[in-house]
Amino acid sequence: MSPILTLDAVQFGYDPAKPVLQDISFQVHPGEVVAVVGRNGAGKSTMLRLLNGLLRPGSGRVTIAGKDAADLKVSEIAAHIGTVFQAPEQQIFNATVRSEIAFGPAQSGLSAEVQQCRIDAAVQRTDLGEVLDTHPLDLDAAMRRFVAVASVIACQPDLMLFDEAQRGLDATRRALLGRIIAEEKSAGRAIVLVCHDMDFVAAHADRVLGLAEGRLAVDAPVRDFFADAEATRAVSVEQPGIVELAQALGQPVAVNAAELVATLAKKLKGGA
Ligand SMILES: Nc1ncnc2c1ncn2[C@@H]1O[C@H](COP(=O)(O)OP(=O)(O)O)[C@@H](O)[C@H]1O
Ligand SMILES: [Mg+2]
Repeated sequence: MSPILTLDAVQFGYDPAKPVLQDISFQVHPGEVVAVVGRNGAGKSTMLRLLNGLLRPGSGRVTIAGKDAADLKVSEIAAHIGTVFQAPEQQIFNATVRSEIAFGPAQSGLSAEVQQCRIDAAVQRTDLGEVLDTHPLDLDAAMRRFVAVASVIACQPDLMLFDEAQRGLDATRRALLGRIIAEEKSAGRAIVLVCHDMDFVAAHADRVLGLAEGRLAVDAPVRDFFADAEATRAVSVEQPGIVELAQALGQPVAVNAAELVATLAKKLKGGA
């Protein structure tokens, strides 16, 4: 399967004399959920802006769906890549939730009927049916985040970028976001999520990219990453609770409670 996204030796600095990112190379394939981790200021948000074309590399190459991003306008990149920014209020510009979600599909050139289908599905999946006529900025921060998520999933991009989309969500809405990620993955779409919350990374990511001092210090499957204390230290992140628990019990790395329970149940049965 060909990658939806390729970075080759990408370098970037807001001040060209002071690179924020150096020698960044990786690929993302359809159906992959990739978490980007690293301490504050490591360059995670900057990297997302290089992926969606809001920033352009100082050197190196970004390839999106087989095309050199340097040859694509931001609007052309947006046909492939949708972004939920760290602060959704920066991307929301319509007066109602309904028109905000409808905006993207209206640019698609699809029939009105198909557009409406996508909008209805996005509204239903994000649980926004009750607030369609509300001004998005009158909603609380969590619901505003889901307005941004709905407007992105309604466009069905090949790749979605989530910058700390899980931050500040209660358990119900975290689970809802997790469900949406899983559904998008099984529909063959890719997701790159910047995330400080290692429980969320363990539960939802397939792979981890770790940034440290502007470089890609880690590119590993999520289990290998959390099994390697040196890797987590190198990118200054904590082990998720479930990984610590599995280790304390002398079990292999588990990324969610169900997995740990299944391992333990198998052991108990084997011992009985
Ligand atoms: N618009 C900007 N102009 C100048 N420097 C910036 C800008 N945005 C971020 N930076 C700097 O780039 C570095 C990486 O920032 P950022 O990508 O926001 O990190 P992260 O998202 O990992 O916290 C930091 O040193 C930050 O101060
Ligand atoms: Mg950031």
